[in-house]
Formats: sequence, C-alpha cells, structure tokens
Amino acid sequence: MSALMHRLQMEIPIIQAPMAGTSTPALAAAVAAAGGLGSIALGAVDAQAGRKMIAATRALVNKPFNVNLFCHAPAVRDATREAAWLAALAPAFARFGATPPAEIHEIYRSLNADPEMAEMLVAERPAVVSFHFGLPPADLVTRLKAEGVVLLASATSLDEARAVAAAGMDGVVAQGYEAGGHRGIFDPAGADDRLSTLALVQVLARELSIPVIAAGGIMTGGGIAAAFAAGAELVQLGTAFIGCPESAADAGHRAALASSAAFHTVMTDAISGRPARCLANGFTALAATLDTPRAAYPVAYDAGKALNAAAKAAGDASFGAQWAGQGAPLARALPAAELCDLLMREYASVRAALAVR
Ligand SMILES: Cc1cc2nc3c(=O)[nH]c(=O)nc-3n(C[C@H](O)[C@H](O)[C@H](O)COP(=O)(O)O)c2cc1C
Repeated sequence: MSALMHRLQMEIPIIQAPMAGTSTPALAAAVAAAGGLGSIALGAVDAQAGRKMIAATRALVNKPFNVNLFCHAPAVRDATREAAWLAALAPAFARFGATPPAEIHEIYRSLNADPEMAEMLVAERPAVVSFHFGLPPADLVTRLKAEGVVLLASATSLDEARAVAAAGMDGVVAQGYEAGGHRGIFDPAGADDRLSTLALVQVLARELSIPVIAAGGIMTGGGIAAAFAAGAELVQLGTAFIGCPESAADAGHRAALASSAAFHTVMTDAISGRPARCLANGFTALAATLDTPRAAYPVAYDAGKALNAAAKAAGDASFGAQWAGQGAPLARALPAAELCDLLMREYASVRAALAVR
C-alpha cells in the first residue's frame, strides 16, 4: 500500500473523480465506505453551499474524502465578444422557440477570487483538497497544509505538473486528453500537446518525485492495471461513476451514456468557454458549425445552460453538458460500492493473467 493510501485510510487505490454538478455527497460517501477516496466538487457553488456539501458528506461517512475547487483565472469580461457569441447562438435558441438571455454572467467564482471559500476550507479542514485549472495562492497552500490537509492538483503537461510539485502539492492528477469533463489545462489559450493518459503518466512518473494519479479513460480493472504499470500510484475515475444511482447525472446524460452515442466524444469549448470532453450531442454538433470566438469561461457556460434549458423545454435533451471521457462505452450503471468491488476483482484477475504470461 502506498504512503498516500495509508494517510487517506484507503483500502483500494481508486479515487472517484470530483464532478461538479454530477458527483454528490452520497456518491463520495459510498466510494469512501467501499475503501476508495470519494470526492465532492465545489467548483460550481459558493462557500455557504460548499460548507453544506461537506457537512452532508460527513453525515454519511466517517472517512476522509476530497473537496475539489476550480482555480482558473477569473473571466475577462468583453461585452462585444459576449454579444457576438449570443448572436451566434441565437438561431439555435430560435429553433426551440426561445431567444438568448439579454445578459450572461460569471456564474462561478474561481477559488483564487473567493476569499470566503478559502476561509471556509481552512475552517472545515477536509482531509483532502484538490485543485483543477490551476493552483491556489501560496498562502492558502501553507494554511491548509498547516491544518494537515492533503493537497492534490490536476496537470495536463510536464510543465503544469512541475508547477504542481513546486507549489507543495502531495500528489498530481495526470489528466490525459481522453478524460471526460473539463480539461484541467491552466491556460486554455496556450499550447496544448494533448498528451494521452498513458504517455503523461509515464513522463510524470519519471520526472517527478510526488505520487502520480492517473485520470482519463480508465473504466475497467485492465485500465487500472495499465495505469499502475505506467507508474501511477492511484487512479482517478470520473466517467465510470456517472451512471451510478448515487450520482446527480440527469436522465438525458444517463440515457446518452448507455446508448451508442457513448462511442463518440468531442472536446469542445463552446458549452462553457473552456475545453471539455462531452458525449457527441446536439450541442457539440452546433459547436462544430460555429467559429465565432466563445465568451470567456464561465460566462459562456451561462449561455450554454440557457440553451440547454430552452432545448429541454422543447423536448430535446441533447444540448446538455453531457461530459464523458473516451472510455464512455465501457460505463456500467452500478451502485458505487458494487462498481468499486467489480473494478478491484477485474484488476486482480488482470494481474493474475499477466503473472502467468
Ligand atoms: C461529468 C464530469 C464532471 C467533471 N467535473 C470535474 C470537476 O468539477 N473538477 C475536477 O477536478 N475534475 C472534473 N472532471 C474531470 C475528472 O476529474 C477526471 O479528470 C476525469 O473524469 C477522468 O477521465 P474519465 O472521465 O475518462 O475517467 C469531471 C469529469 C466528468 C466526467
């Protein structure tokens, strides 16, 4: 067992990925009870709601869990660009008998611009805090570490991973291009080598001395074995847990994941303003036809959510942010504890099969 697993009282090496809007206290608690590390995602809520989610998880399980935050550069507002983006979406709204919202807003605050959230985290002292899209201010790292909190951060490249290690994180989540949901890249306008999980994990395991957690496309015990063979110490699975009854995924997302639609995923920045991997659906098809510069994240997400609401009201469930990774067709809609158990049985049989080869 790795030192990190021991410190986090983990009996199985699986982290259930934080998934804003999809993971829930019930999901995190079920994974924690099964011996993994459950995660709740606070990227889309304010400090007060975040505190409630932590309390709700604590009420369900007396084990460590992970609390995840977004650390993006706050949106640079640009009225002309936002108006052009809404105008580009207008024909899609019109198809559903609707019009774009008159105004769109920065619907989520970055942790880096949310002192209340930072204070709440220090006061609540969750066992683990993880960061996506960047790193928190150094003084918050110092304060959380002083409280004994284990800190993790996503990286999509060696440069980002080096920054993660230099910031004092206890582990790096190596997020490959196949991963579902938002790509953790720090600067989406910068260069992106789009490394796969397996390539990224191998590079980071060689170059860094902190534990590497593999994320992206891992859906089975065989996927877990591959990640460990590549040098990962733990694995983080998101898409695998979307279909669990404990998740908050809506009916449209669940149905698409269980259908042949799962064979096609698209990296798009049209839904939220940042690149994210989504099941191919009405929104990703629309995105492919629009070359208008998107409004900044998360302002564009406000428009995307309004378009989804208009589509849903007209009976079309295909405009949701149906985030999923490339392994989506391998998803199994099982209760989280059963899924963890199955993944570990598969992992054991893959190891046994490899040992006799
Ligand atoms: C529905 C969904 C929502 C996600 N939301 C978050 C989030 O709030 N914070 C975060 O750090 N990662 C988020 N991710 C990315 C995961 O942390 C992880 O990198 C990814 O799920 C791994 O790839 P996989 O989905 O192929 O397992 C999300 C992923 C999905 C599928």
